[in-house]
Amino acid sequence: MQRLTPDAQRLAAWSSHLLRDQVAVVTGAGRGIGRAIALAFGLAGASVACIARTEAEAQSIVDEINANRPTSGGSAIAMVYDLTNIPGIPALLSSVEAQLGPITILINNAGIAMVHALGQHNPNLFAWEKVITTNLTSPLAMMSCILPSMLARLRGTIVSIGSRNAAHDIPYTWAYSVAKTGLLKMHQIVEAEVGGRGVYNYYLQPGNVDTGILEREGAVDEVSLKGDGGLSKMVDMVNEARKISAEVVAEACVVLVTDEASRLLSGKYVDLEQDIEGILEDLRRGKGSECARRDLYRLKVESLR
Ligand SMILES: NC(=O)c1ccc[n+]([C@@H]2O[C@H](COP(=O)([O-])OP(=O)(O)OC[C@H]3O[C@@H](n4cnc5c(N)ncnc54)[C@H](OP(=O)(O)O)[C@@H]3O)[C@@H](O)[C@H]2O)c1
Repeated sequence: MQRLTPDAQRLAAWSSHLLRDQVAVVTGAGRGIGRAIALAFGLAGASVACIARTEAEAQSIVDEINANRPTSGGSAIAMVYDLTNIPGIPALLSSVEAQLGPITILINNAGIAMVHALGQHNPNLFAWEKVITTNLTSPLAMMSCILPSMLARLRGTIVSIGSRNAAHDIPYTWAYSVAKTGLLKMHQIVEAEVGGRGVYNYYLQPGNVDTGILEREGAVDEVSLKGDGGLSKMVDMVNEARKISAEVVAEACVVLVTDEASRLLSGKYVDLEQDIEGILEDLRRGKGSECARRDLYRLKVESLR
């Protein structure tokens, strides 16, 4: 896997139309991580469908990608859509294919956070459902719509933006963590079912990214905040944690799509906070690798024997 490069080098490298024959769908492309991914793909020459609910944000990233078209070759369309409308997803994707051609890359990025103290007052099940639908059901629906045609053409990459919450027990993050853990399991099942058939899929854990996701409306439960102080401490910790930029996550997505070495990571928990080059070096040892022997970078329950 190539090293992640700083901005100026990246822009220069990507002007070589690296993704010129690719059609990418990026959910949540209006801001934050999704915006950076859509821009990176556009600069690398892909045709990008930018999905978000906020029209002005979706249009803004599309305008930026299309403004770079003369040098990058990339282009974009805006698809203003609420991904919690699950039954409409097949028509949404048909519309993308009618405009751009067969989809070769799916980035399941759209997501919402919600933290709440379960021990203090009853969970808001409406909020639970919204998080599960946005962060888990919608990526599952997107993937299941796109996968058959990718398999038929023996070509495709699917990346879901996951979270370290799938591997760590972080209090107050109930719905969010359950959704992100389900998403990881979904990738493992996809790999078990169709791995080795030309479609590669990755659960990318980006670490803390400087997007302000916990500042969105409804992300932090106000009643729980006034409770025993535990939730507000947790929110402070997240806000003060070291952050990486969304552009670094975007670069990792370009690398996962373009670098054949990364295919060894298909179906796994790809942890941007770890030494990915070192993990790949180990995986190249095949069945004798530490990753294979200890079944690492997967969800599992260990037993004594
Ligand atoms: N920021 C972090 O530290 C961090 C860490 C680990 C993982 N992640 C994951 O990274 C992903 C992106 O997070 P972010 O920090 O970039 O968040 P963000 O800045 O709030 O951006 C989220 C994007 O998703 C879109 N979106 C949300 N709900 C949607 C819906 N129902 N339909 C269509 N689009 C929807 C939003 O646009 P609209 O509101 O206009 O729809 C927005 O474009 C999420 O899956 C998140 O869980 C983030």
